[in-house]
Amino acid sequence: MATRNKSQSQLIDLFLSIARELGIESDKDVAALAGVSVENVANWRSGVVQQLKPQKLAAVKRGLTARIEALRALAGEVSIDPDLGLVTLEIETGSGPSSLQRQLRDRIHYDYLGHRFLYFEPQGALAWENLIRAGYEQTTWLRGVEERAAEWLDPSRDSRGRTKGPIAAALGFCPKARVRGLDVISLGPGEGGKEVRLLHRLLDLEKEKNQSLPWLTLCLADVSIALLTRAARDTRKTLSERGAHHGTVMATCADFEEGPLSFLGRIPTTRLPKEDGLRLVLILGNVFGNVRDEETFLREKAFKILRQGDLLWLEVGVRPDAIETEPLFRLTDAAQEETAAEANRRLLLEGPYRRWEAARGRKPSNLEMRVFIREDDDSSRVPGSLNFCHDLVIKDEGRTVTMLYSRRYAIPGLTKWLEEQGLAVERIHEVKDTKGRPRVAHLLVRKT
Ligand SMILES: C[S@@+](CC[C@H](N)C(=O)[O-])C[C@H]1O[C@@H](n2cnc3c(N)ncnc32)[C@H](O)[C@@H]1O
Repeated sequence: MATRNKSQSQLIDLFLSIARELGIESDKDVAALAGVSVENVANWRSGVVQQLKPQKLAAVKRGLTARIEALRALAGEVSIDPDLGLVTLEIETGSGPSSLQRQLRDRIHYDYLGHRFLYFEPQGALAWENLIRAGYEQTTWLRGVEERAAEWLDPSRDSRGRTKGPIAAALGFCPKARVRGLDVISLGPGEGGKEVRLLHRLLDLEKEKNQSLPWLTLCLADVSIALLTRAARDTRKTLSERGAHHGTVMATCADFEEGPLSFLGRIPTTRLPKEDGLRLVLILGNVFGNVRDEETFLREKAFKILRQGDLLWLEVGVRPDAIETEPLFRLTDAAQEETAAEANRRLLLEGPYRRWEAARGRKPSNLEMRVFIREDDDSSRVPGSLNFCHDLVIKDEGRTVTMLYSRRYAIPGLTKWLEEQGLAVERIHEVKDTKGRPRVAHLLVRKT
């Protein structure tokens, strides 16, 4: 341990020692923690300044509290070392596999089940992984996230002196601002490939600015334990390989549509003053277009997470001008021969019902997947959107059950609708598939 400079006050020495133990060592990091200039820190170290002014003391206390809060969150995460071969997950009461199994059993005779039930069992997760492995263009979508992250986290200035990247600006990488901590909350991350890419860009930003965020938490909420395990492992490995010891991954098996969102109780922004931290909510991979009702979801769930000024990153499916060019359109014609990718989609859709009937000791039913377009009805209420509704026809019972909504949005209609919900759309970027057709749009939205 470094010895105290003879003229340095004991209390300053104590503060600097604690900061060092918390990983805040350089003058620049200490200055950022206390919200002062680097020269101030040099004066504390040399003993020229023996006492902190009340305002600075308050800033120091706030900064230390933020670090300790992040450590508290970390304390719930046993497997700090990713090579230990342990992956820690938390399970929200009512959202674990047996609860979902029970809900599936209770609702199996309803006419709507929805995407919540597609992936929570390992076979469903496997079907999803097979789906994105072939014919899904996943590499294009991953690159789309990576490029947006680079752009939206760009700390450089435009010709008017403003920070170019809106997320970098919201984090305080702009003149006269204090850098804030960040809680990234990903709803339905699946296997987490996009979150890994975002983490890399965040850590690049810190490196470029030579300044760490006061804390960085990635909170993953997904009902699929199989996919969540992979996402938690890969994102923790990323933090560990990049030496980001202030970064924490909290992985919760949680239902973001019907569950109580208990994981919010553990993230630093819940415990700290609002001005100290930003929330960035991710809803990627058209998960927004899968929920039962977008408005209900925003009102009852998303707005419990987003506080005024917080950011929401949506990646949604785009409605093409000619709907026949949308790959899902083929599925609306039952006479078309099934491709391997389409077979995977069918297996994903049939899975929950197949497993339910097997568990009941029933013989396999005669099932059929039916995809059809719904528009201007209560399943596609955002103006300009349409819904590729995926139904399962249970022929023996002479009924159908809806397994998945998959909406495509007209971006001007979606933008206007989001603004009406109290969200300001700050950035829009379309991503084309390998055939040059716009298929996906990224929207960065601020809660007003
Ligand atoms: C299409 S997949 C993965 C999407 C991923 N974000 C991407 O961009 O590739 C959708 C994920 O959302 C999860 N999911 C669906 N409904 C959910 C719910 N109500 N609560 C939590 N997770 C849910 C599924 O388990 C699955 O991992």
